[in-house]
Amino acid sequence: MGSGADTVFLNGQFMPMHEAKISPMDRGFLFGDGVYEMVPCHNKRLVALELHMARLQNSLDGIGLKLNMCLKDWQNIAQNLMQQHTSDNVGIYFHVSRGADIKRFHAFPADIPPTIFAFAFEIPPAPVANRQLAKPIKVISSEDLRWKRCHIKSTSLLGNVLHFQHGQEAGVNETILYNSQYELTEASSCNVFIVKDNSVYTPPLDKQLLPGITRHILLDLLQKDLNIHMQERVITMQEVHAADEIWLTSSSKEVAAVVELDGKPVGKGEVGPVWQIAQNLFNANKYNY
Ligand code: PDD
Repeated sequence: MGSGADTVFLNGQFMPMHEAKISPMDRGFLFGDGVYEMVPCHNKRLVALELHMARLQNSLDGIGLKLNMCLKDWQNIAQNLMQQHTSDNVGIYFHVSRGADIKRFHAFPADIPPTIFAFAFEIPPAPVANRQLAKPIKVISSEDLRWKRCHIKSTSLLGNVLHFQHGQEAGVNETILYNSQYELTEASSCNVFIVKDNSVYTPPLDKQLLPGITRHILLDLLQKDLNIHMQERVITMQEVHAADEIWLTSSSKEVAAVVELDGKPVGKGEVGPVWQIAQNLFNANKYNY
């Protein structure tokens, strides 16, 4: 049994991280054959666990991986890791791979147990919904060169990693991606929203982007807010460049305001007023999902 921040869960047991061992024949290692989730937790409260676990099930179905785990099982693992961690702000990482076979063969093997791994890691505190205190970020844009099944939260993240690294090497925080039609898809580890003339837009769900849980919650909240016009629709990169505000959403960032795109200011180059409304709504309601 591990203790504190170094405890992990592997295949039914909690243990110190240094004791957790996985076979090099694991298909997660050899093929990236697995799926994952990251559930945020602030002040020892999990955010939208059920929605995350429903998406995990969709990802498992998407790669044809059967698993005997129910919501209660995941909840117990999450609660245990969260309670033991020393930080108040953690992400619970869940990872399921197809397991370790005795040979390297592309086809799914019959009857090998999946590998189930989970651990907790510190994430930044939830952003304060205040334009002056916000931590604005900068991005570049690039053609989306990942695969055609981005709706599956797959551990095969090399495409995402290369796009993210491109941004790092350009001295910015993230890379916003567009398809061959020059339409916005998402960012390498976040969904994207834009604001134009006080209306909020985000691309519709399809296989080009991950159905983000933060995106889902924010959409629901904005659609219920009578003062804000919110629409899911195709967004061209010309529109992204002309936007008044750009936001990135993810479980660790919540709603992050982008102030620079491809070296040019977004809108006035400062955190916008609609961002403040959005992050405020998110802060006030995120535990209700
Ligand atoms: N990333 N798009 C991609 C490609 C992502 O990897 C993520 C999340 C999102 C946002 O999804 P959500 O709101 O459910 O976190 C969108 C997680 C945090 C990660 O890879 O660690």
